[in-house]
Amino acid sequence: MTLRSFYLSKFFVLLLLIACQSSYKEFDYSLAATPPMGWNSWNTFYSNINEKLILETADAMVESGMAAVGYNYIVIDDGWASYRDAQGNIQPDSIKFPSGIKYVADYVHKKGLKFGIYSSAGETTCGKLPGSWQYETLDANQYARWGVDYLKYDWCGHKKGSAEKIYKKMSKALQDTGRPIVFSICEWGDNDPWEWGRGVGHLWRTTYDIGNCWAKKGNLGVIDIIDAQNGLEKYSGPGAWNDPDMLRIGSKCLTYEESKSHFSFWALLNAPLMAGNDLRNMTDEVREILTNQEVIAINQDPLGRQGFKFRDDGDLEYWRKELADGSLALILLNRSSEPVVMKLKLADLNSDANSFSARDLWEHIDLGRIENNYTTTVASHGIKFLRLYPN
Ligand code: GAL
Repeated sequence: MTLRSFYLSKFFVLLLLIACQSSYKEFDYSLAATPPMGWNSWNTFYSNINEKLILETADAMVESGMAAVGYNYIVIDDGWASYRDAQGNIQPDSIKFPSGIKYVADYVHKKGLKFGIYSSAGETTCGKLPGSWQYETLDANQYARWGVDYLKYDWCGHKKGSAEKIYKKMSKALQDTGRPIVFSICEWGDNDPWEWGRGVGHLWRTTYDIGNCWAKKGNLGVIDIIDAQNGLEKYSGPGAWNDPDMLRIGSKCLTYEESKSHFSFWALLNAPLMAGNDLRNMTDEVREILTNQEVIAINQDPLGRQGFKFRDDGDLEYWRKELADGSLALILLNRSSEPVVMKLKLADLNSDANSFSARDLWEHIDLGRIENNYTTTVASHGIKFLRLYPN
């Protein structure tokens, strides 16, 4: 090699490095600085979705007051896609979505909301429709053109290989579109996504699907999912959230107390708050739970520190979450089938404060100053959800 060709080859390597640098885009954590809030079609409608339902749901999100308290993503789950055209472009089901996906996205945006869609990392989705395997870039670009703001990416039909690599591929394809798109990893916790999900997606499912009830009946129950979250708190933070699956508030199988427990825990665990009920037909009770602003404030706290269990007395559990203003969110959970008197010992909090001013986040009342202990009756499968301000 002559000296000239030696320097020339060095020069080209340098050019290549500069080109790689400039095309490299940083993962945007700020897209989900607090856990995403919204609605997803799956838990009530499964694949029975269509344009009318989605437009009406967007209307209901605004009219019900859900949008005003922070819910903003309208996400279409499995069942919207149909086939790929000769160029490989994914086509929506034209009977369900006669005006196309962009029309729906535009409608949602005009309401001041954001629009999300679903695909799978495999050749097919769980509903046996085309997945994005080997179509990642084509699909990501199509989503961007349609105005998609959120992608839920499932694990059905996936090929053998590293889940991390497979999800990274779609993550990169989304970033390369230049459109800000929240990336939701729905890999069911199979390959410990909390270990590698940060910087790949903004949230990652930690378990299989949540069922309708408090305890396992076929699918996991609310309490089973709560049990699976303890210990995962260290992986969660702004732009990178553990996802214990969507909300089941509004399911007939859950009692009022169970529904409040469900919502309280999702708040304390920094879970994405994705309602799964029919927003067009909510009872006042369901609406009241989903729009409890004091509870939502715990979920959306800017510190983004996930809550954890600090005391376990069998059926009686004590969970806490630290908040940006120095206060603490506290859940007293009664798993038993009877109401129980529960006693919180302030010493268990290991706090420098000797006393706290307490607020009940469901009764919406100040409980005054607490010193040493706090004693209260907690309903079966129920919670007390308090915010404690150190004095
Ligand atoms: C599952 C996923 C559900 C839903 C469903 C659609 O794998 O966990 O949340 O998206 O697929 O087929």
